[in-house]
Amino acid sequence: MKNIGMTKDYSCEYFNPEIETMTREQIEALQLERLKATVKHCMNSPFYKKRFKEAGITPEDIKTLGDIRNIPFTTKQDLRDTYPFGLASVSIEKCTRLHSSSGTTGNPTVILHTDKDIDEWANQVARNLWMVGLRPTDVFQNSSGYGMFTGGLGFQNGAEKLGMLTVPAAAGNSLRQIKFIKDFGTTAIHAVPSYLTRLKEVMDQEGIDPRRDTKLKVFAIGAEPHSEEQRKRIEDMFGVKAYNSFGMSEMCGPGVGFECKEQNGLHFWEDYYIVEIVDPETLEPVPDGEIGELVLTSICREAMPLLRYRTRDLTRVLGRSCPCGRNHVRLDRMKGRSDDMMVLKGVNIFPIQIEKILMRFPELASNYLITLTTDEDNDNMTVEVELEDLFTDDFQRLLDLASRIKRALKDEILLTPHVKLVPKGSLPVSEGKAVRVIDKRKVYQ
Ligand code: COA
Ligand code: AMP
Ligand code: ZN
Repeated sequence: MKNIGMTKDYSCEYFNPEIETMTREQIEALQLERLKATVKHCMNSPFYKKRFKEAGITPEDIKTLGDIRNIPFTTKQDLRDTYPFGLASVSIEKCTRLHSSSGTTGNPTVILHTDKDIDEWANQVARNLWMVGLRPTDVFQNSSGYGMFTGGLGFQNGAEKLGMLTVPAAAGNSLRQIKFIKDFGTTAIHAVPSYLTRLKEVMDQEGIDPRRDTKLKVFAIGAEPHSEEQRKRIEDMFGVKAYNSFGMSEMCGPGVGFECKEQNGLHFWEDYYIVEIVDPETLEPVPDGEIGELVLTSICREAMPLLRYRTRDLTRVLGRSCPCGRNHVRLDRMKGRSDDMMVLKGVNIFPIQIEKILMRFPELASNYLITLTTDEDNDNMTVEVELEDLFTDDFQRLLDLASRIKRALKDEILLTPHVKLVPKGSLPVSEGKAVRVIDKRKVYQ
C-alpha cells in the first residue's frame, strides 16, 4: 500500500496532497491495484472463498475495474449470517477493535478493525476536517455517542491525527456542551443535524449568542439524513459553515464521504472505496446523474474488507471534478433508502426491531404505528400500539405497562420513544402491505 503522506504546511489546502489531487487516470490505476490486492486478501475469509467458488470466479479474473461487476454483492444479511466474525480476512488476534451497528433482527452487524484500519480511518477523517479549513490550532468538540457508535471514536481519532485539541464531550447534556464550547474556545463541532437545533434552543434559553459568545466556525453534520434547507437553517442559526459528513460502520464509520468548501456534494474517497450506483431492483449500474443505490467496495482495509456492499442508501453521481482540485467522485446528499431503515438522532432503527419488542407483551395486539416528528426542534419517535383488551379503568396499570414498553424499546433501539396505548381497532388498517412508519420530519429532499 502507498504511504499516506500528510502535509505539515498549514497553508496547503490538502491533508494528503498527493492522493487528493490525483487525476482520474491515477485514481483508477490505484483503485485497480488495491482492488486486486483486496480480492486476494479476501480469500482468507471462508465466506468470500465460498462466494467466489459459487460464482465461478477467482481473484485472477479481476483484470480491470469493470471486472468488479462479476463479483457478487455483499449484504447486511451476509453480516448477520456470519455474525460475529465470519467475514474477517485476518485472524482475530490481529484485530484491535470492533464496532457494531443495528441489524435488522437478532444480531447487530459487527465490524472488525486492525491497528492499520484504525489509522487509515483516522486519516480519512483528518483529511475531511483539513479540507474544510481546520488546522492543529483549532479546538474540536465531538457530540457523537462514543462506545459502539463509530461517530465517537472515529471523529476522535481523526481530529487527534490532524492535531487539534479534541474535546470528547459525547452525546447529550447540552448545558455542559455549551460550557465546553465557551470555556475551551471550541471552533468546530461534529454533531447530528437534529441535535444542533436542540443545542441552539438551549443556547437561546441561556441567553448565549453563538456569533457573539463563541468561536465556532465549522460544523461537521452527518450520521443522519438531512435536507439542504436544514443545513442552511443551521448555518443561519449559528453563523457557522456546516459540512455534510457521510459514513457507515461497515466501511469504517465517518470519513467515507465529506463535502469540500464548495459544498457541491460529498467527495467519496476513491483511494479507499470503489463507488458504484446501481438500480436497486435490477442491480445494474445507472448512468451518472440518475438516482440509485450506493454500492461500496473497501479497497484499503485489512480486518474485514467488504466487496460490493449494498449500502441501501440512495444517491447519484454529481461529477468527477471540482473547483477545489479534487477529482474524487462527488455524490449528492442521500435521497432515501431502498429498505425500511430509519435514522433518528443518529441512531439506525429497523421497524422490525420495534415489532419484535412489542410482540413480547401479551397485553398488546399486533397493530402498531411509528411516527417520527420534529417537535420544538427535537426529533422524536412515537409508538402507538393497540391493546389486546381494554383496561382503561385501571389507569395505573396502563402507565406501568407503557413505562415497561418504553424501557424495553430503549434497550433495543438505544433511544427513548413516546409510547401511546390505544384501544384495539383504533389504528388505521392498511390494505395490502401495512404502513408501519410515518416520517413527518421531511429529512430527504
Ligand atoms: N447527539 C447528541 N446529543 C443528543 C442527540 C444526538 N444525536 N440526540 C439527543 N441528544 C441529547 C438531548 O438533547 C438530551 O440532552 P439535553 O436535554 O441536555 O439537551 C440528551 O441527549 C438525551 O436526549 P433524549 O432525546 O431524551 O434521549 P434518548 O433516550 O432518546 O437518547 C441519545 C438519545 C443521545 C442517548 C441517543 O440518541 C444517542 O446516543 N445518539 C447519538 C448517536 C450518534 O452519535 N450517532 C452517530 C453515529 S456515527
Ligand atoms: P452507521 O453504520 O450506524 O454509521 O449508519 C450508517 C447509515 O447512516 C448510512 O448507511 C446512512 O443511511 C446514514 N447516514 C450516515 N451519514 C449520513 C449522511 N450524511 N446523510 C444521510 N444519511 C447518512
Ligand atoms: Zn471539491
